[in-house]
Amino acid sequence: MNLFNLKEKVAIVTGGNGGIGLAYAKGLVKAGAKVAIWGRNSAKNELAKTALESLGGEIMVFAADLTNAAEARDAFKATLAHFGKVDICFANAGGAGPQGKRLHEIEEDDWNAIINLNLNSVVNTYKPIIQHLIDRKAPGKLIVTSSIAALIGTGFSAGYGTTKSAVLGLTRSLAVELGNKGIQVNAILPGYIETEMSSNAPQAFKEATLRRSVTGKNGTLEQMEGVAVFLASESSDFMTGQSIVLDGGHTIFPL
Ligand SMILES: NC(=O)c1ccc[n+]([C@@H]2O[C@H](COP(=O)([O-])OP(=O)(O)OC[C@H]3O[C@@H](n4cnc5c(N)ncnc54)[C@H](OP(=O)(O)O)[C@@H]3O)[C@@H](O)[C@H]2O)c1
Repeated sequence: MNLFNLKEKVAIVTGGNGGIGLAYAKGLVKAGAKVAIWGRNSAKNELAKTALESLGGEIMVFAADLTNAAEARDAFKATLAHFGKVDICFANAGGAGPQGKRLHEIEEDDWNAIINLNLNSVVNTYKPIIQHLIDRKAPGKLIVTSSIAALIGTGFSAGYGTTKSAVLGLTRSLAVELGNKGIQVNAILPGYIETEMSSNAPQAFKEATLRRSVTGKNGTLEQMEGVAVFLASESSDFMTGQSIVLDGGHTIFPL
């Protein structure tokens, strides 16, 4: 078995131009994978490409709003044209959605926007890749970034908790549908990690999260690299429909 070696593998990382997605991409490049970064912001995409190339990676980037299925299909076509195949996909792009409001106070458009971003963008991303893997009769790895918000009550952030739970249901469903095709589908559930998205969280929330970490620390981006390699590699071939929680013990701490 090739344990943690991703040489000759091609991986897509959505939202890979910063934060947790860029950390996944760094891990994948270090393990030998070629990586396609999909994100909306071209300037961020280019910066990520440069950073990943400095680690020795073969990288392509594509600017797409993944809430739009046609743009996701275009991103996939461009990736296929560049690398010739895709083996691995991290559906990581996401955002916080409406914060600080009770459900009945959230506008319909804002509710639909977070469903589109955190759930429908994952579906839009996965669909062309699933078809491609089935057509190639190739093994594959689909990984979504959920959150510990899927496991705990996220009051005043119902859109986030709801969508991060929904992708776990999607993960289990796809694991069943694709299991006999050699495609594993899993989820990563990070606790609090300082990124562009999480830096906007209220200070009280950040302090509470730190108190709940039994390690006394929040997570770091570097700590996201290894789990990405594990789930992308042959080492996780017998694992599907599952979730890996990396939260410093937040969700097992009874305080
Ligand atoms: N940070 C945490 O504490 C934490 C904890 C648990 C889970 N997560 C999850 O981790 C994932 C990454 O978040 P992050 O914390 O690393 O924040 P981040 O740095 O803000 O990353 C979000 C990424 O998503 C991309 N993105 C957003 N909307 C998009 C769209 N419509 N189409 C395509 N790409 C889009 C962004 O790229 P552009 O700006 O170019 O659009 C960016 O690369 C999210 O799913 C988040 O829910 C984060």
